[in-house]
Amino acid sequence: MGIKTLEFENPILSGKLTIPGDKSISHRAVMLGSIAKGKTSISGFLDGEDCISTINIFRQLGVSIEREGTKVTIDSPGMLRWKTPTQVLYAGNSGTTARLLLGILAGSRITSVLTGDESLSNRPMNRVTLPLRTMGASITGEPDSNLLPLSITGGQLKAIDYTMPVASAQVKSAILFAGLTAEGETSVSETTVSRDHTERMLMQFGADLSKKGNTVRLKGGQLLHATDVVVPGDISSAAFFMAAVAMLERSSVSFKNVGLNPTRTGIIDVLKEMGAQVEIGEEKEPLGEPYGDVTITYGSLQGIEISGAIIPTLIDELPVIALLATQAQGTTIIKDAAELRVKETDRIVAVTTELKKLGADIEATDDGMIIHGPTALTGGSLASYGDHRLGMMAAIAALVTSGPIQIEDPSCIAISYPGFFDDLEKLAISTNLKG
Ligand code: S3P
Repeated sequence: MGIKTLEFENPILSGKLTIPGDKSISHRAVMLGSIAKGKTSISGFLDGEDCISTINIFRQLGVSIEREGTKVTIDSPGMLRWKTPTQVLYAGNSGTTARLLLGILAGSRITSVLTGDESLSNRPMNRVTLPLRTMGASITGEPDSNLLPLSITGGQLKAIDYTMPVASAQVKSAILFAGLTAEGETSVSETTVSRDHTERMLMQFGADLSKKGNTVRLKGGQLLHATDVVVPGDISSAAFFMAAVAMLERSSVSFKNVGLNPTRTGIIDVLKEMGAQVEIGEEKEPLGEPYGDVTITYGSLQGIEISGAIIPTLIDELPVIALLATQAQGTTIIKDAAELRVKETDRIVAVTTELKKLGADIEATDDGMIIHGPTALTGGSLASYGDHRLGMMAAIAALVTSGPIQIEDPSCIAISYPGFFDDLEKLAISTNLKG
């Protein structure tokens, strides 16, 4: 387990940054490109470890996938001709890979076993296996098909009308993928809207899908058509540097081609409400997903309440938002975010434990955190918990702490942002980066 030390003196962040591809969209592009027969090409693919896990699994199913950096070319025989894998399918650390695949494999013609790393093997899968079993899926594992490894025997599924008990795009996507091959029309209703990349991309691959209010309907037995996918920059990755800019006087950074899907842009709303200056350039939407340039400039920050419908639109950003709140005047309350407890680690426990080590005035609640600011943070040694977003939160904290930060096990950052430290160095170049 390595340690990375970061220390800055009066840092300013400035310049332009092209953020790596969106993780959620990259996974879905490989999945749909593998389901559809023929050639799909993906540009802007995220070459992070999670998305590579997805590629490796489809290769095991007999799909030809070539990758050169961020360009991926898929040539698939189509889902009906996938071959039964000879080895266990390994989803690594990736919840999206595991949960979406369960939906896909359940309606396939193959039998497989899916597993993951230690963190993923402790994350709940019954949020997808229970509705999938109602559709007729044969998925077995202990306890009660909740934890990986799980065995999946693909077969004919039947449609379901499903009302989501949690706001989770992974659950919604797993059911829609299963619905693709099911008999009848599947519907999924959400009380709180989660990211809609699956719906958008299914339509891009030619699926007949309709949306009314918060309900999505999809007819079973559809064939998808291979197509080209352009992946915009991941706003969840950009969020770390956006928050850094918002905390540092005299800082301003322009982020190029950032995904601006409204189901993901809660961080922009929070930055504005807290007092940062946000400018959004012309929005483009060539192939299904909106994106554009976003410039963030420092502004004096105020604490706010973050709760309700905005939570799923910034769920992965909450660790860095908690850090941001330590530098804002007044109290920030984060609630309705109990989902944080079942991420790569329990992020409520991890964020509060680590920020307290730096002197933050932060407390954990059942479904969120309460942060009083502003606090002058000290340096310290922070654990990443093998969680990429905790690792990046620790690195960004180093920009505002009085002493150095040691990040324990920083390699996990490559799960979603392999070039993170290079980009940090690039933006902070004028600031005596040490370490
Ligand atoms: C994701 C959905 C979210 C998010 C995860 C990626 C996706 O998880 O936290 O990083 O790609 O669908 P949930 O669906 O569990 O909320």
